[in-house]
Amino acid sequence: MGTIVQVEKLRKTYGATVAVDDISFEVREGEIFGMVGPNGAGKTTTIECLEGLRKPDRGTVRVLGVDPQRESQTLRERTGMQLQQSNLPERMRVWEALDLYSSFYPKAADWKELLAQLGLEEKRNAPFSKLSGGQKQRLFIALALLPDPQLVFLDELTTGLDPQARHAIWDLVRDVRSKGKTILLTTHFMEEAERLCDRVAILDHGRIVALDTPAALIRSLGAEERVVFNVDGSLPAGFEKALSGAVRVEVQGERVTVHGKDGRKVPLVSEVVSLLTAQGVRFRDLRTEQPTLEDVFLKLTGREMRE
Ligand SMILES: Nc1ncnc2c1ncn2[C@@H]1O[C@H](COP(=O)(O)OP(=O)(O)OP(=O)(O)O)[C@@H](O)[C@H]1O
Ligand SMILES: [Mg+2]
Repeated sequence: MGTIVQVEKLRKTYGATVAVDDISFEVREGEIFGMVGPNGAGKTTTIECLEGLRKPDRGTVRVLGVDPQRESQTLRERTGMQLQQSNLPERMRVWEALDLYSSFYPKAADWKELLAQLGLEEKRNAPFSKLSGGQKQRLFIALALLPDPQLVFLDELTTGLDPQARHAIWDLVRDVRSKGKTILLTTHFMEEAERLCDRVAILDHGRIVALDTPAALIRSLGAEERVVFNVDGSLPAGFEKALSGAVRVEVQGERVTVHGKDGRKVPLVSEVVSLLTAQGVRFRDLRTEQPTLEDVFLKLTGREMRE
């Protein structure tokens, strides 16, 4: 599999702020590559350096084999971009925007098809200023896919979209990938990164703190499966001690969370249910929770809100 994007020791500062701090990674042909990270982690700056919209201070960037600073025209024709902040003239109608952008590209995709895929048919004649936030967002995704590009950059893919639109866009992105295209996206939804991306880079303070497949990232956390349930009354003393498979038991009111140990032989849920039954504890709403990418994300980037 070829390399579509190659980044080596990329660094970008804004005055005293180091937005991107010596990062290296590559994106392979045909993959959906995700960047996640807290606000201000440097995701947009990285993407903008790849798009040729910002000049790196240091480091090498190759996109489709070319330097985005030197051959921006080549990239315009072969990549699609959805920017985090975009705008169109207020009175431009949806179809006019699509039609106009189509004329920029020699092999533009059929915009009428995109309009339908993004659920914008009813808004075809609406001026840009009359679209809702999510509808604008969908229009920008359509514009990014219009050049039928080899590589698509999607910065904050589904921010502000309702669940229906989000699922439809996941399908659309998978569809684009199945045609052999490569996708580089950023998202704040860990579920989206987990379900959609082949590989994910977690950025924090301008650095990559982890990069792997979602499954491998979750495994690497050595994280615990959890069993959650509600009890009537309180847990008997000694409940926690009697559980060999648990590292920790948290009690909040009537809600109990048992954090399992890694590499157990007996399923945690069996042990918990047997013990509750043996101790004659009445419980409700018992469920198991598997560790998710969100757990990995919070573990690596902390729980403090960013400036
Ligand atoms: N044009 C700019 N001028 C000065 N500082 C900037 C500029 N753009 C970004 N920054 C700073 O660079 C850092 C990285 O910002 P960037 O937009 O790349 O983060 P991000 O990961 O995309 O965040 P978000 O999740 O909020 O979109 C932040 O500290 C931000 O304040
Ligand atoms: Mg951003």
